[in-house]
Amino acid sequence: MKIVVCKDYEEMSQKGKDFIISELKRDSSLALGGATGNTPKRLYELLAQSGFDFSERKIWFLDEYFGKMSYYQYAVNFLHNNFPQGRGFRLENIHIPQGIFYWNNQTAHSETLSQILLENKNDYHMLGPEVSIYAEAMNGLLKQIRRSNRNYEHSLPVNRLQILGIGVEGHVGFNEKGTRKTSLTHLTLLDESTLTANESDFADGIRTKYALTQGIQSIMRAKYAVLFASGEKKAEAVHGFLLGDNSASALRNHENLAVFLTRDILARFTDKDKIKLRHSYFIVDFAT
Ligand code: F6R
Repeated sequence: MKIVVCKDYEEMSQKGKDFIISELKRDSSLALGGATGNTPKRLYELLAQSGFDFSERKIWFLDEYFGKMSYYQYAVNFLHNNFPQGRGFRLENIHIPQGIFYWNNQTAHSETLSQILLENKNDYHMLGPEVSIYAEAMNGLLKQIRRSNRNYEHSLPVNRLQILGIGVEGHVGFNEKGTRKTSLTHLTLLDESTLTANESDFADGIRTKYALTQGIQSIMRAKYAVLFASGEKKAEAVHGFLLGDNSASALRNHENLAVFLTRDILARFTDKDKIKLRHSYFIVDFAT
C-alpha cells in the first residue's frame, strides 16, 4: 500500500487526478470504479478539466439508495454533464446498482421494503447490516433485488481502478460496521451515522434506510483501488482503516491500493502510530 500525504483537499485532488490519468494512459482498457459523496467532487472536476477523453471508458459505481436515484443523478452530473462535450462518460457507460424497484405498480420505498421484510422472514436473514436474500425467496420484490444485485456483481470488471471515500464510521461503499469481508453486492441497512452524515441526500423528501452496495469482496476484486480522505473528521475512520479494525481495514490486504490523505488527518495519530505506519507502508509525504 502506498500512502500519499497532501497539504490540503486541493492538493489531494490534484495528485489523485494525476495518478488516475497516468494509470488510464497506461492501459486503454482500464475501467473506473466510481464513488459518490463530497470527497471526490473536486477530483471529478479536475478529471473533466484535464482534457482526457473518457468517452470510451466505462465506470461502475459503488452504491445507490433503495427507492431513490440520487447517486445515478450525481454520476451523470459529474461525469457526463460537466465534461467538455464529447469527452465525458457516455450515459450507457455509467453503471450503478439499481435502486428503483416496482411493487404493486409503484416505486417501492423504504417503508414498503421494511413491511415486506417483516412479513417474509423466511426469505432472508440478516448478516450484521447485510440483508442476505435466499435463492428460494418467495416474495417478488426480494427476488428482483437479489437478481439485480447478482447481475451487477457479475458485470463488474476486474480490470478497473476503484475510487473510494471513507465514511466517518469507517465504511467503504455502504459496507457498514459488521459487514462480512466476503460480502458481494447486497442490500444493506444503513447505519444511523450514515443517515446523519448524508442528510442532504434526503432534501427531496424521499428518505430511506436501505441501500444497495458493492460488498467488501467486490471492491477487493478491483485490480486497483484509490482511497481518498480529507479533513480531521475522517481521522478516526482512517486510523481504524490503517491500524485498527473497521469495514475499510479489510482493504489493507489489497495488492494495489493507493491512499491519498490530507495532513490534518495524521496530526491526530500518535508518534507510535506514525512509526508503525512508516514500518508497514510506503509513504510519500508532499506536505512536509
Ligand atoms: C459513496 C460511498 C461512501 C462515501 C463515504 C464518504 O459512493 O460509497 O462510502 O465515499 O460515505 O462520503 P463523503 O465523501 O461525502 O465524506
